[in-house]
Amino acid sequence: MLASRESNCIVPEPFGAGLGGPPAGRENLRRSAGVGMSTSPKRRSRRATTLTPEPLYRLGTAFWGSGVLFAAHRLSIFEALEARPRTASEVAGVCGLTLPGAEKLLTACAALGLVAGDEAGRYRNSPVAKTFLVRGKPAYQGHLLAYFADLWSRFGELEHLLKTGEIGPREAAFALARPDDERRAAERAWVLAMHEIAVGGQAEALCRAIDLSDCARLLDVSGGSGSYALHFAEQYPGLVAEVLDLPEVIAVAEELIRQSVVGARVRARAGDFLNADYGSGYDVVLLSGVLHGLGERHILRVLKKAYAALNPGGRVIVQELTPDAPSPAAAQFAALFSLNMMSGAAYSAERIALWLNQSGFLRIAMTPLDQAWWFDHVISGRKP
Ligand SMILES: C[S@@+](CC[C@H](N)C(=O)[O-])C[C@H]1O[C@@H](n2cnc3c(N)ncnc32)[C@H](O)[C@@H]1O
Repeated sequence: MLASRESNCIVPEPFGAGLGGPPAGRENLRRSAGVGMSTSPKRRSRRATTLTPEPLYRLGTAFWGSGVLFAAHRLSIFEALEARPRTASEVAGVCGLTLPGAEKLLTACAALGLVAGDEAGRYRNSPVAKTFLVRGKPAYQGHLLAYFADLWSRFGELEHLLKTGEIGPREAAFALARPDDERRAAERAWVLAMHEIAVGGQAEALCRAIDLSDCARLLDVSGGSGSYALHFAEQYPGLVAEVLDLPEVIAVAEELIRQSVVGARVRARAGDFLNADYGSGYDVVLLSGVLHGLGERHILRVLKKAYAALNPGGRVIVQELTPDAPSPAAAQFAALFSLNMMSGAAYSAERIALWLNQSGFLRIAMTPLDQAWWFDHVISGRKP
């Protein structure tokens, strides 16, 4: 499981470390031992540190590591090494690479901490690769990686999006040229990526932050894969949950619900969150990762519908990524994620709390999720 953004990081530091204000700036001052002749402690301390461009090199080449990870994943390197440790020559044979290609890729994967080599020239998966990168493993994160890889051109031509509010020409051309079956597979992978975020630690973090022991009915609006509804149903044997989302997403959620031991208590239904009848009699309405994609008018509309669907005393629970994330790495993630969004924003927890209040909710609470990788806050309120 992902314990926190930092603890699972293979690259030694968050990529922006050393660029910021005073504390991070100090980290960026490297001791230049042996430079200068002065023996005076005062003079030495003035000369002893040098601002280096290293953080920029790290930041500027961060995509190289992403490229290696995506290629190794797509080439099934981690499955090949999971069967048994293999030499570069064996990996080349199994994964269809040239020998120099396999040697370079394995060397790069070893440098990134994804695999480890031994003296006999064999490579094996690192614990992270073994747990999260092998297809079929319960904590597999490969669909999420495919989603990250799908954002490659978006970030590659970010200036176009920032100037026009539209995706850039390369991404548009790629989307147009993508065959229908590949597009459908990418959409399905996106829903599975949401599932992987949930099982990668987010659902556990949310369940730790929220006590639903007094709830009998939950509605998960735009519930995606349904993984949070399923997780809550596992935690609370008396809970019945419903997942509302668009038809193509619901089709994938239904697959996951069928596979779950608590699937009999979780129902999925297709509907548009702006216009669908949410129903009534719910004790809790969950809005996980929904508001950041919307503008204020639509947010208030969704919250009003959630309010109407709840019993008196019922709760709305918003799980979101925010700029006030509890750790610098989480805040950095939210800031960078927001850049590629076509609409909405990573709103502050206070702003979401105000919207809840404006929609009639009282007893509003803002809870940071310290242990979560993706969404960093829960904002909840009660219907009086
Ligand atoms: C970022 S995802 C979050 C999914 C899920 N709640 C989670 O946290 O994993 C946003 C969800 O909103 C859904 N969505 C987008 N537009 C919608 C609409 N008009 N009606 C219902 N759901 C919609 C998407 O299909 C997607 O599942």
